[in-house]
Amino acid sequence: MSNPSRRALLVTHCGQLLTFRGPRRPRTGAEMGDVGLLRNAALVIRNETVVRVGSGARARDWPEARHAPLLDACGKVVLPGFVDSHTHALFAGTRLDEYEARIRGATYARIARAGGGIQASAKQVRRLSQSALAGHLDHVIRRFLEYGTTTAEVKSGYGLEFGQELKMLKAIRAARRRASFDLIPTLLAHAIPARFRAARSQYVRRLIRWFIPAVARAGLAEFFDVFCDTGYFTVAETKTVLEAAARAGFKLKIHAEQMARTGAARVAAQLGAVSMDHLEHLTESDIRALRTVQEARGSRTIATLLPGSVLHLGGGVYPPARALIHAGIPVALATNFNPGSSPTLNMQVILSLACSHMRMSPAEALTASTINGAYAVGRGSLVGSLEVGKQADLVIMDVRDYREIPYFFGMNHCATVIKKGRVVYRKG
Ligand code: NIG
Repeated sequence: MSNPSRRALLVTHCGQLLTFRGPRRPRTGAEMGDVGLLRNAALVIRNETVVRVGSGARARDWPEARHAPLLDACGKVVLPGFVDSHTHALFAGTRLDEYEARIRGATYARIARAGGGIQASAKQVRRLSQSALAGHLDHVIRRFLEYGTTTAEVKSGYGLEFGQELKMLKAIRAARRRASFDLIPTLLAHAIPARFRAARSQYVRRLIRWFIPAVARAGLAEFFDVFCDTGYFTVAETKTVLEAAARAGFKLKIHAEQMARTGAARVAAQLGAVSMDHLEHLTESDIRALRTVQEARGSRTIATLLPGSVLHLGGGVYPPARALIHAGIPVALATNFNPGSSPTLNMQVILSLACSHMRMSPAEALTASTINGAYAVGRGSLVGSLEVGKQADLVIMDVRDYREIPYFFGMNHCATVIKKGRVVYRKG
């Protein structure tokens, strides 16, 4: 007979337990500053689920904790695992020469025009088999866990040609099936392949008529995303491909206002996209328009901000987090892990950038990278907070005050990671 206590765990002596308990929707405005803090707290996990959360020293007496093995957090900070809601984590190599060229003064746009950038990553992906790509992702998942991320979105987009995109999506599916990790797959229209430069409308037509429905039928992706920017997809193309993706049943995301202001964020709000990502060049009038659309539709397109790429590209324009929070637009933070503009999967560094360069408070930044990130990948009722009934994904950080996480920047504070009720990582 199986012993029920084997699938239970009592986590005690949490100096600070950040629960992020609250309404069943993304947090906005002042709500973003509330981490749902409990001091000297404990929680009980049964199987994959949180079954009790509370303060006080008597957790051992809770009926839910009977026979449960103990994990002593020793006064450290405990919080939900990070939810990284925007990544290009499946790639096949670095772009170190471009990195050096940019240091010497070349721009991202100039490198892309010369065949580098996304096209260079596409060449690397072309050389690898599906199983080699899946092996890369297995490795990335282990690194995510080490840094406290327990759920991540991952995009295709370095295939460009449809056969290569399918290879990427199938590699994601293979890694997803064998990992103890929640991986959310997104089909990304990232750039027009070089051979279609003079026939871009043909590529867009094939995307709409054939590829998007084929990926939907195969169930290979949950979200559809498009890179709308100068030199990539135009606003008109973006609108048509997103409409086609919505018809095929995809939830929508957009890369908007990253390199230049295009108006893509307004399209995202009008189409009820789940998130609009980047927003470095979003204007005040855009924010007013987004607010009006959201109020009229009763929708909440999440602004997913990606300061890692601003740091790495050295551009200096960070997205307007304060104005977005002030306007009542929910904000998420993500790493944008990719080989071109943001080669980090460390969410803790992203928190430091958000606090120092975007003037988000540590509490807001943590809300943005947990519960709001969860809503940005359609998992808000499953992960992102530590409440009874939620999946037991949590991290013990080796600090005494949660503000130390962004404050001591560039470090990995993660001591223990629990995914679906099981300890999957312990430092040392
Ligand atoms: O989000 N903006 C588009 N995609 C990535 C960059 C991809 C790359 O350079 O490989 C981004 O920054």
